[in-house]
Amino acid sequence: MQLNKIINFSAIALGCMLMLSSCQKESEVLHYSASEYAELSKNLNLPGEVYNYTVNVPSHFGGDLIFNGNIDPTRLNRENHIATLGRVLFYDELLSRNGTVSCGSCHVQTAGFAHNEALSEGFDGETTVRNSLALGTTAMGLTTSYGGASSFGGEALAGFSWDDSIHSMEEQTQAAIENPAEMGMTMEDMVDRVNSIAYYDILFRKAFGEGEINEENLLAAITKFVNSISSNESKFDEGLSQNFNANQPFANFTAQENLGKELYNTNCSSCHGVQHDFTVLAVANNGLDLNYADNGKGDKTGKASDMGVFKVPFLRNIALSGPYMHDGRFESLEDVVDFYSENIQNHDNLNFRLRGDNGQAMKMNLQDHEKEALVAYLETLTDEEMIKDDKFSDPFGE
Ligand code: HEC
Ligand code: HEC
Repeated sequence: MQLNKIINFSAIALGCMLMLSSCQKESEVLHYSASEYAELSKNLNLPGEVYNYTVNVPSHFGGDLIFNGNIDPTRLNRENHIATLGRVLFYDELLSRNGTVSCGSCHVQTAGFAHNEALSEGFDGETTVRNSLALGTTAMGLTTSYGGASSFGGEALAGFSWDDSIHSMEEQTQAAIENPAEMGMTMEDMVDRVNSIAYYDILFRKAFGEGEINEENLLAAITKFVNSISSNESKFDEGLSQNFNANQPFANFTAQENLGKELYNTNCSSCHGVQHDFTVLAVANNGLDLNYADNGKGDKTGKASDMGVFKVPFLRNIALSGPYMHDGRFESLEDVVDFYSENIQNHDNLNFRLRGDNGQAMKMNLQDHEKEALVAYLETLTDEEMIKDDKFSDPFGE
């Protein structure tokens, strides 16, 4: 980690010494000219000076020692223009086949970048097969490489999507663009469409330079934007930053929230993680059904041991992102907690962490006040700053 930091640091210095001219260019790139800004402002509500999309990882997660790498500090202005371009692409309905749907239709900021519908409607009214997944659910941004588990027990790193089948942000973005139930475009159509819109001429030039409107840059920009969405200012984070140990009571928590935290750490954290920085497991079966209509990972791999196995989701902003589970079957966190308390099913693949000593599905049999405490704890994971941060908001309109 330390080494990383040093390398990073000397790279900046070296970069500037060797390429003085490119460092100067960096500062020139910051502002839009008056005519550019006037053109952009016809359709977009963008700040005159780009927002900073660097993720500041707080010290309770190791601060910049962990990773400050969503944005390359030696080319900050460019990187922020790339993220700005990504923001516009993310919210642009013109980029779906008939101009009705954007990424932001199904990944809504106030819903923790999930969607408050069990299934979401795409451009022509067809619905998605599964519930929209929340974005920005990691403390350090980087949905990509922090999309899941560390290597506990040798289990693999998590991919994207409920069935764990997609392995990079770019691939996920392309899948959404091309999915007939989502945006219904081809990448070629997408580049043509972008080429025909005046504001993209400016935004791409600022981000990548002249003549650089292409598939690769388009995907890179959306990736940069999505990876800048991070959640690390919740009440939970405030508590953790005060004593650095999520197994101790937090001073800023009520007694009820601390009880909920204890129950969570005992019953849930072995999969979803204690600190909400990594999930412990990438995927698992959590015993929703004995027979699944949708077998998740199993439908992709065909393996018996993957049937009913789904991505272990991050729980940051969980109170905002309902309904819950891959099919959106639970309306509320109360329903989720009732399920874990009494209704876990004895599926063959039920993870051992949710089995009792007799090997059967665990019965937590939580009392009402414990269920309420668990929900109160889950609500401390809401990050009000992230969901009202202008730099992640829809730049179209007003
Ligand atoms: C019509 C609704 C819809 C649109 C439009 C849409 N998504 Fe999604 N998104 C979903 C659904 C549903 C899932 C879960 C899919 C699954 O697991 O099968 C998902 C999953 C994701 C994930 C995976 C998250 C994770 O933790 O695994 C990412 C990243 C994502 N979408 C980004 C985007 C981007 C970027 C765009 C725009 C280019 C976009 N989505 C457009 C509905 C949508
Ligand atoms: C064995 C690992 C495991 C344990 C232990 C576990 N979960 Fe889960 N959890 C999962 C998986 C896997 C899913 C997704 C299942 C699906 O949709 O099919 C999930 C889904 C959820 C969701 C829905 C997330 C969303 O975005 O829709 C919530 C909320 C949740 N769990 C809370 C809890 C709580 C609270 C506990 C403890 C009482 C707990 N989990 C224990 C594996 C686990």
